[in-house]
Amino acid sequence: MKTQVVIIGSGPAGLLLSEILHRHGIESVVLERSAREHVLSRIRAGVLESTTVDVLRENGLAARMDAEGHPHDGMRIAWAGRDSFMVDTQATLGRRFMVYGQTSIQEDLYAAADRRGQPVLTEVADVVLHEHDGAPGAKPCVTFVQGGEKRRIDCEFIAGCDGFHGVSRRSIPESVRKEYEKVYPFGWLGVMARVKPLPDITYVNHPRGFALASYRNEKLSRFYIQVALEDKVEDWPDDRFWPELKARFPAEMAAAIEEDATIEKSIAPLRSFVSEPMRYGALFLCGDAAHIVPPTGAKGLNLAVSDVFYLSRALARWYGQGKPDLLDSYSAMALRRVWSSVRTSWYLTNLLHRFPHFSEFDQKAQEYELDYLKNSRFAQAALAEQYAGLAYEKVD
Ligand code: APR
Ligand code: PHB
Repeated sequence: MKTQVVIIGSGPAGLLLSEILHRHGIESVVLERSAREHVLSRIRAGVLESTTVDVLRENGLAARMDAEGHPHDGMRIAWAGRDSFMVDTQATLGRRFMVYGQTSIQEDLYAAADRRGQPVLTEVADVVLHEHDGAPGAKPCVTFVQGGEKRRIDCEFIAGCDGFHGVSRRSIPESVRKEYEKVYPFGWLGVMARVKPLPDITYVNHPRGFALASYRNEKLSRFYIQVALEDKVEDWPDDRFWPELKARFPAEMAAAIEEDATIEKSIAPLRSFVSEPMRYGALFLCGDAAHIVPPTGAKGLNLAVSDVFYLSRALARWYGQGKPDLLDSYSAMALRRVWSSVRTSWYLTNLLHRFPHFSEFDQKAQEYELDYLKNSRFAQAALAEQYAGLAYEKVD
């Protein structure tokens, strides 16, 4: 088998890349380790930056998002004992973001791939990258096993879109790679429930720990609470979860939260991680394969989309005009945006959580940061800009 670009991973990064490449007349084959049903069942965040919304619209992927998603004007921040306030992206920037679950985006991307007959090979094992180091005369290819048979695809480029645990990042020699990591001393317990959501996406700082109210649609809410790293889902039956969630929200909001049996419950640790560079020879990394952010701020999917935007533009320029300049600048350009979102989610995580090791000094500094944010329209505008998403870099 032969193609122009082998894409490893059929998460949002891999499938979006294959779609945009197809629109530029560039062929790709997508390889996925899991079964399609498994990929479609994963529940993740649901806040789309206005830049992400634009990319989906420009590539004909927005029909369902525009019909079922919910445009939002801002995020609300609340903390114990004080009035909550809105960071208003519409009033400060004239930009709205969209609440639309990543699970739905994944469905839309698979449906688009089916419509155009995109080859997506699922349940492949033992994916190995060969001759991807960019040496003169190298002929990149990817081997894998599917249905017990060993197969090989020759290609010109490999896009590593295979998430944090994938094989692509590890195919860059350790001597070339530099990794930056921060592990936070807590996790988030997330639940889904068929109840009416609060009117705003609301982030709460409370002495009992962080809490977040978000939503998927008028009848489906998504809630999160900060929990200890060692906690297990079994430690959090519904009759413990609901009172704890409500104890962290201001009384009038807590009173508006309806309770019902939760329909999904999971715990995820929080970490920030960046691996540099994002290109090695013929291999280009996109999305979680190169970086992880804590969910505070919901930047993970949005960063996958900005990587794909930059890489698809670079490949389109190479195949269309024979110019390698954007391929050469891909890693540096993608990393500038990655680090800015890594910084934002680190900032929001520090601002809104209770850290076990916080001294009284740390606690005071956090409170005064929140005070500043509440009272300064400049501080709010800066956060609004980051929450709604920084503009992509333009090129000639
Ligand atoms: N071979 C083939 N496929 C693989 C391999 C492998 N060795 N390893 C992992 N994969 C697949 C996974 O099964 C998964 O479907 O790669 C895909 C990676 O998808 P995601 O983890 O969703 O990563 P990405 O597409 O970068 O999306 C980023 O998803 O993880 C969230 O918070 C993250 O919102 C962000 C977004
Ligand atoms: C979500 O809706 O799942 C969500 C929203 C905002 C976040 C994280 C997750 O910061």
